[in-house]
Amino acid sequence: MLVPSTPLPLLLLLLASDGVSAKKSTLVRRTSDFARRQTTNLARDLRVALAGVGLLPRSDSAQHVIYCKNSAQGALGSSSASGASGASGSGSASGSGSSGGSGTKSGSVSSGHSSSTKKASGTTTGTGAGATATSAWHLTQNYAGSSFFDGWDFWDTSDPTHGTVDYVSQTDGQNAGLIEINSAGNAIMRVETTPTVASVRKSIRITTQKSFTGGLVIMDAVHMPTGCATWPAFWSNGPNWPIGGEIDIVEGVNDYTNNQATIHTGPGCSLPTDNPAQLGASASAVTGGTDCAAATSGNAGCGMRSPSSQSFGAGFNSNGGGVYAMKWDSSGISVYFFARGTVPDDIGAGAPQPTTWGLPMAHWPANDCDPWKYFYTHVAIFDTTLCGDWAGSAWTGSGIPGQEQSCATRTGYPTCEAFVQGSGASFADAYWEVKSVKFYNTTAPL
Ligand SMILES: *[C@@H]1O[C@H](CO)[C@@H](O)[C@H](O)[C@H]1NC(C)=O
Repeated sequence: MLVPSTPLPLLLLLLASDGVSAKKSTLVRRTSDFARRQTTNLARDLRVALAGVGLLPRSDSAQHVIYCKNSAQGALGSSSASGASGASGSGSASGSGSSGGSGTKSGSVSSGHSSSTKKASGTTTGTGAGATATSAWHLTQNYAGSSFFDGWDFWDTSDPTHGTVDYVSQTDGQNAGLIEINSAGNAIMRVETTPTVASVRKSIRITTQKSFTGGLVIMDAVHMPTGCATWPAFWSNGPNWPIGGEIDIVEGVNDYTNNQATIHTGPGCSLPTDNPAQLGASASAVTGGTDCAAATSGNAGCGMRSPSSQSFGAGFNSNGGGVYAMKWDSSGISVYFFARGTVPDDIGAGAPQPTTWGLPMAHWPANDCDPWKYFYTHVAIFDTTLCGDWAGSAWTGSGIPGQEQSCATRTGYPTCEAFVQGSGASFADAYWEVKSVKFYNTTAPL
């Protein structure tokens, strides 16, 4: 574990910026995932290459300095998360930046047709008053109900983000009661709640077998994992990370209540400004920088924090969840969030009309980031890890919305890992309950 073994001055530097941890975590995920699929030699080469540009993840204290440097360079801004006991929490916390994103799973990308593909009947008539009656979007994939888990691969090897988890296969997940379709017809993905474990807790990470390049993804959940030590995400990425791009739609750690959506790309993709309003987004802050490239931004990516405390974690759950939509077309990439009770009728009707939805919470315009060049052949992913590169590193941090006190203070455990190992009942809320994930497309060019 990196924090406890870190010399105090470096530790303070680490704690001073949640974003640093997040940036690192994101990179570590991809890097590790990527390396995993390569031969030993390739993996070694990758590590050498990354070390050369100061991006080698993990282990020695030198990298912490490197990350702090990166943080300073990339700092666009604003406040970082307050460290240890501070907590005054402005909440702006652009420093908490990035996201964690998580690992690339490009190895599973397939452009072929999945046998589990569910063809939709196509466009239905919209119901929105005053709006054009017909949606341009038609359903191409629908993961819902008793067949929800068809068409997803279960990641059952070690967590590339170094979480205190054991990702299990579909069979093992079923046998352990970690996945099921509940009586409401919703898909459940849990974390093991055995009172104490020697090292890691079982958890679930799944990836769509089918890939997509552009379109509209609508994810409806009534509950998401929350609480100290948790690091859940719903996201997508392409091959050859970061070249195929990554879109983090829902992500955060511990007790955070405000979602952060982030993109990570190859060199050349940027934001024209770090002012969310000028971007056409309702975000309260751009949390990374305006350079979205992993290699030149210290992997901060371009993140945006939702202004809604119902968009993530306990806030999301207490309101019955809500709907996330990610639109990827020639205008760029947008993420919309609708708390339960505010979901547009056209979504419920299966005839989405994004042009009537108002401002997205996050928007990355095409002008400075060609959505067809920097993103392609994505797969969608759900995961819940514990501790690891982001939630573990943020254990003693505070000052992010929802995290007014650190998890160390709230739990009384000095480390995230000790809490995970000794406090199984605390993970009763660390589950996804997903109604559906739907993919839509247009017949007109995207
Ligand atoms: C939409 O159609 C385009 C063109 O066929 C395809 O590349 C893309 O993957 C589709 N997206 C979805 C979400 O089905």
